[in-house]
Amino acid sequence: GLPTRVRIHEVGPRDGLQNESAIVPVEVKAEFIRRLATAGLSTVEATSFVHPKWVPQLADAEELYPRLADLEGVRLPVLVPNARGLERASALGAREVAVFASATESFAKANLNRTVDGALEMFEPVVARAKSAGLRVRGYLSMCFGDPWEGPVPVDQVVRVCRALAGMGCDELSLGDTIGVATPGHVHALLTALGTAGLPASGAPADSAPPGGPTLAVHFHDTYGQALSNTLAALQHGVATVDASAGGLGGCPYAKSATGNLATEDLVWMLHGLGVETGVDLARLTATSTWMAQRLGRPSPSRTVRALAGA
Ligand code: HMG
Ligand code: MG
Repeated sequence: GLPTRVRIHEVGPRDGLQNESAIVPVEVKAEFIRRLATAGLSTVEATSFVHPKWVPQLADAEELYPRLADLEGVRLPVLVPNARGLERASALGAREVAVFASATESFAKANLNRTVDGALEMFEPVVARAKSAGLRVRGYLSMCFGDPWEGPVPVDQVVRVCRALAGMGCDELSLGDTIGVATPGHVHALLTALGTAGLPASGAPADSAPPGGPTLAVHFHDTYGQALSNTLAALQHGVATVDASAGGLGGCPYAKSATGNLATEDLVWMLHGLGVETGVDLARLTATSTWMAQRLGRPSPSRTVRALAGA
């Protein structure tokens, strides 16, 4: 059966805004995050402490993060690629961080200027330090299905890097279809292989890692319109943590052909229709995405936002 409740990991302010050509003013970002929290999203990925030259859209992380200090009852994870990123995030009191690995050599080089294993070596002390400081750690894995340079990605290659991230002590693994090429059969194949490798989906959106290992999350981009079908396939495997981006904002500047993430509204429409709880107020969320689309000067690509907003 399906999980009774899904935790939505909202990535709009990070994955969405990192790919906007316009630099969004810091006060608009803070307002966006506040509105998302008010709409009932319990986790809002706020920003990244990466090199500002690599992602200029998020270069204001030091200004943004303190503006969220009074937000209660919402988790605000941030991306940290290395020790410098963790230092910057910790200095501002971040309680939750994410490292981001790649299943392919091409993307490891393009996104992190490292080999796959070189990136894992970079993350290992970061995860260890974060865990010993009591932080929650998510491990992203990009290019789990297809890679724009290498084509289809072998399942074994993905499982190997997942095991490495789990071995470091990540509380959660987010399986990324960075360029949105996956289809449900491929999702089924990967989750089956992960289960066999000792990394099953637990069926519950655990707030801490289950004794057996990390919680599994899925992170679909909607390039080929498959994100919702893929999500349903993952739910049928017991995945209960799903990444999505309000209004379908998003992409990745270092992966050609990556478009927006699965829109949070589309996800919520499907989950509520299935009787799966999310805690999200869809009307408030849609109003937020419509407001953000006005700030960005272009309509939301989300079908659900368009239908509900009558746009
Ligand atoms: P590098 O050039 O190899 O860095 O980049 P380095 O370690 O050689 O250091 C070079 C300089 O950068 C040094 O300064 C460092 O201090 C500085 P210098 O001594 O020359 O003055 N530096 C930093 N400054 C600020 N913050 C830092 C930092 N680190 C080094 N954290 C690096 C390596 C990892 C830093 C770089 O490649 C980088 O920042 N990459 C980030 C790329 C990124 O953010 N991509 C998007 C997120 S991933 C994604 O979107 C996919 C996802 O959504 C899942 C999916 O869809 O698949 C998560
Ligand atoms: Mg992404």
